[in-house]
Amino acid sequence: MFKSKHLLGIKELSPDEINHILDTSSGFRDVLRRDIKKVPPLRGKTVISLFFEPSTRTRTSFALAAKRLSADDVNFSVTSSSVVKGESIQDTALTIQALGADFVVIRHKSSGVPHILSKILNASVVNAGDGANEHPTQALLDLFTIRSHKKKFKGLTVSIIGDIAHSRVAKSNIYGLTKLGAHVRVICPPTLMPAEIDKMGVEVFHSIDKGVRNADVLMTLRLQLERQSTGFLPSLREYFKLYGLTQERLGLAKKNAIVMHPGPMNRGVEIASDVADGPQSVILEQVTNGIAVRMAVLYLLAGVKK
Ligand code: CP
Repeated sequence: MFKSKHLLGIKELSPDEINHILDTSSGFRDVLRRDIKKVPPLRGKTVISLFFEPSTRTRTSFALAAKRLSADDVNFSVTSSSVVKGESIQDTALTIQALGADFVVIRHKSSGVPHILSKILNASVVNAGDGANEHPTQALLDLFTIRSHKKKFKGLTVSIIGDIAHSRVAKSNIYGLTKLGAHVRVICPPTLMPAEIDKMGVEVFHSIDKGVRNADVLMTLRLQLERQSTGFLPSLREYFKLYGLTQERLGLAKKNAIVMHPGPMNRGVEIASDVADGPQSVILEQVTNGIAVRMAVLYLLAGVKK
């Protein structure tokens, strides 16, 4: 079913492969609801996480996913490693493989690093976020969360609001949602819209009020201040005024619309606190679903003939 032993991006996956991951995730979500949450399929395997950027959700849920599948999981600390003495990313990854890694889960600030490692490692490489390129497991858990509320993708309108240009989450979600038949709207100031947006099969809005009208899903994005140079925005206060998701704007979407955010959130910048904590928010459910989805990814990659 799965053609590659690596998960580098949603761009490379077929709709069947995405649906297969989502179906497999459902099974693992049931496992996680049991008293005993551990199953044996990855016993004897080793998952090593290499995070060159900070993470709360992705790193922790990969660690839990590995443990729940009975794998050994090792968290590589970049700041106390030989990376600080100048060891290259390639040498670091080969060293980790020599220590017995079956899976290398990598997050890096530069786009394409997981792709480079996939060419030199025998271990399965899983992209946990590469620069502004892709964050495939985040998109898969977002798709899983949408499907569990809306049951299907065809006919759904998903409005993605925020810093599209710098967001790997937006790109992976656009690939996934359009492959599965959803209608995707992207909403942001012209300065935060990527140049290639016309080729991505989405509808572009610069007005949030127009972009959220009658939507089924509102996906807000973190404003990625660390990836921006100056001049993209007049001020954070101005950004919230023009693009922040407020109760009033949420009222323009469908009554049963769900509110999503990949985290970490800038409350009062891209989303109002009462919306983030309100009854339509599924933000914490996204986090919980991340474990089942990452279990599915590790499990399915382990089954690919090497
Ligand atoms: N959504 C996400 O990637 O969160 P973390 O940076 O906490 O992993």
